[in-house]
Amino acid sequence: MKVIEAKDYQDMSKLAADYIIRKVSHSPKIKLGLATGGTPLGIYANLIADHQKNGTSYQGVTTFNLDEYIGLSGTDPNSYRYYMNHNLFDHIDVQKQNTFVPRGNADDIEKECIDYEKLIKNHGGIDLQILGIGSNGHIGFNEPGTSFDTETHVVQLTASTRQANARYFNSLEEVPTKAITMGIASIMRSKEILLLISGEKKTEALNRLLSGNVDENFPASVLKRHPYVTIIADKAAIADLKVNS
Ligand code: GLP
Repeated sequence: MKVIEAKDYQDMSKLAADYIIRKVSHSPKIKLGLATGGTPLGIYANLIADHQKNGTSYQGVTTFNLDEYIGLSGTDPNSYRYYMNHNLFDHIDVQKQNTFVPRGNADDIEKECIDYEKLIKNHGGIDLQILGIGSNGHIGFNEPGTSFDTETHVVQLTASTRQANARYFNSLEEVPTKAITMGIASIMRSKEILLLISGEKKTEALNRLLSGNVDENFPASVLKRHPYVTIIADKAAIADLKVNS
């Protein structure tokens, strides 16, 4: 895993966006894996600004999002489909029909999981997966204890993840209790992974990722087995690192 140190959140977002822009310019039909949460918002803002200023085109790009809350429709402002449309897709020239987010309100959720996994495979897999990390090491919504063999599946969200995401909802009670997420095996099949880590709340997770063992109780640790991972972390996340790698 290569670690790039960014000055701050803005710098991390710019470095990551420039990285993605280079990849898209070089491979206009790239399959991107996208993430939600607070961390990638700055990246998406930079991608939009670049699209408007320099005309980087996403017309040939296909995107697959990591996860979605179960029970929310794509028009619900707290759904990840809404988040993606609002924070990125509506402002660039990607073709909406080539943007995929699991459907959290599908009639048959188990079938939705199987279909989503097939969809990714039928497109030849993900070339570059953007990832954030939960403070407990979750990637996508793969909580501690998730088997490394999992493909897209239904998860029960932990109390800590619901608590962490409650800031986007009116109350904790409104945060869904379940989600669909790409599995660890699905994520690991991406040809390349770009992991973003920002803020002191994530220092412990970064520390454990760099210095701990590969362990299903810390899902992100699996990334050590991936041949092509780049971490961009800001100073605030790196500050108290016990081990440098
Ligand atoms: C959410 C998402 C993850 C994300 C993580 C961190 O639960 N499902 O994909 O990486 O939390 O979120 P944030 O970037 O807001 O800290």
